Amino acid sequence: MSPSIRPRTTEDLHACVDALATVHASDRYPVDWPSDPGRWLTPSGLVEAWVVVEGSDVVGHVGLSQLDAATLEAPLTRAIGTPVGPVGSITRLFVTPQGRGHGHATRLLDVVGTKAAALGIPLVLDVSDDGHAAISLYERAGWRRVASARAEWLNAAGENALLHYYVGPGAARKPAQSE
Ligand SMILES: CC(C)(COP(=O)(O)OP(=O)(O)OC[C@H]1O[C@@H](n2cnc3c(N)ncnc32)[C@H](O)[C@@H]1OP(=O)(O)O)[C@@H](O)C(=O)NCCC(=O)NCCS
Repeated sequence: MSPSIRPRTTEDLHACVDALATVHASDRYPVDWPSDPGRWLTPSGLVEAWVVVEGSDVVGHVGLSQLDAATLEAPLTRAIGTPVGPVGSITRLFVTPQGRGHGHATRLLDVVGTKAAALGIPLVLDVSDDGHAAISLYERAGWRRVASARAEWLNAAGENALLHYYVGPGAARKPAQSE
């Protein structure tokens, strides 16, 4: 059966957690295994999530979160200015090790992009410097890096993670402002 993408349902959560466990084991994503992985996959502000399914297995996942402009990370507002309305954020994107290299993540980003366009909200994301495959994915998909800053949380090496902030392909270009 060929994989397909569809909105995530509550019944999918178990399979999503199973898939996330394989990603955590291979990539330390997330760095620390959450005490409640189902809840981790359902962060506050989540608008919708999608899964790539193959039979009864989930092989990919992504979420679209809506952020209040007032809570946008400081490096992003310094780079793009404070948006007038809400902003969407790519969240909880992963593909299982067995499912990689088939364009699943690219298609998941497309689905989120379509939804965000329908909602009329610009998209942003942040990615840790350790996520080489993810960085390459985003840049190939037309995302633009606008800022980088150290996070408070520690990466797998025990250092403050270096986060890169990106704006989506449809976001208007604005000159970076200095502090
Ligand atoms: C990043 C990730 C989601 C990519 O999933 P995927 O389905 O394999 O990605 P795709 O097949 O759509 O790849 C699209 C592009 O991404 C880039 N890419 C994907 N995997 C890559 C890798 N291992 N090394 C370098 N570039 C890679 C390439 O540019 C690729 O295009 P190409 O196949 O024409 O070279 C997956 O590797 C993953 O789940 N990683 C761990 C979790 C993670 O880092 N999530 C992101 C958190 S911000």
